[in-house]
Amino acid sequence: MRPSTPRADPDAHPAAHGRNDEQPWDLFDTDYYWAHNYRTLQDVDQRILRFIGEFFDRQPLRGGHGIDVGTGANLYPVLAMLPLCQAVTLWEWSRKNAQWLGREVAHYRPEWDPFWAELVDRPSYTAVGDPRLAVADRAHVRHGHVFHLPRHTWDAGTMFFVAESMSALPEEFERALCRFVQSLRPGAPFAAAFMEGSEGYSVPVVFDEALPPVSYQFPAVPVGVDDVARCLATVAHTVDIQRIDRGDKPLREGYTGMIVAVGTAGPPNGA
Ligand SMILES: C[S@@+](CC[C@H](N)C(=O)[O-])C[C@H]1O[C@@H](n2cnc3c(N)ncnc32)[C@H](O)[C@@H]1O
Repeated sequence: MRPSTPRADPDAHPAAHGRNDEQPWDLFDTDYYWAHNYRTLQDVDQRILRFIGEFFDRQPLRGGHGIDVGTGANLYPVLAMLPLCQAVTLWEWSRKNAQWLGREVAHYRPEWDPFWAELVDRPSYTAVGDPRLAVADRAHVRHGHVFHLPRHTWDAGTMFFVAESMSALPEEFERALCRFVQSLRPGAPFAAAFMEGSEGYSVPVVFDEALPPVSYQFPAVPVGVDDVARCLATVAHTVDIQRIDRGDKPLREGYTGMIVAVGTAGPPNGA
């Protein structure tokens, strides 16, 4: 799940290390992940939504084709792109998450309404009308790997808590973030979010249907603002990065804050 979960679960399967392709993504407990992170709108997500909502509301793009990479059980990046996009591809590697998303987008649950409420007062969001119908009509789930994204294809993009939370290898973090931005057409607006200082997170997985789920420790790269900025500087321009403190009483442990970046895909000189 998102790297906001406890990293020191003593019952966790011992594997908070390793490459992306060594993790049991197809066994990910999507319902648990959703309930733990998104059943209730949290303060940090509210602040992220306001930041990216302001950014996307300023964009002139209409009728584009967007992409959200590693959607998991999080629909709010897709909601944030609705004013800009007549279609949004949800590019997800876990078959379990992809199946869950296929059901969810058809008629998303009422718990997403408070997330939309953070966006809807801005003019471009008001113009969307019914976001539930828009998601059902425009969102398409695709089983896909971040390293296999085609280049210069989408008009807008989001990737939340994926690049730093899919592997323990810093080079895979950098590669995933660059591949995401490079999958966008030059000039495309994007938003990306990261857990700061995360060293992993536990999610139940089912290794054997005859046995109860076990808590598995997924790996993460403990990135900071500088890591995100350095990486984006090679593939994007007009980048704006905000660090969001986790506050004094965080709902979860195992991270130091969240980082959200918005910007424009394409050569750093804007050419
Ligand atoms: C920490 S979860 C984040 C989920 C969601 N975006 C969110 O904001 O909560 C990481 C997500 O990345 C997906 N993922 C892992 N490896 C991937 C890969 N190689 N390509 C695409 N998605 C991947 C996982 O299946 C999972 O949905």
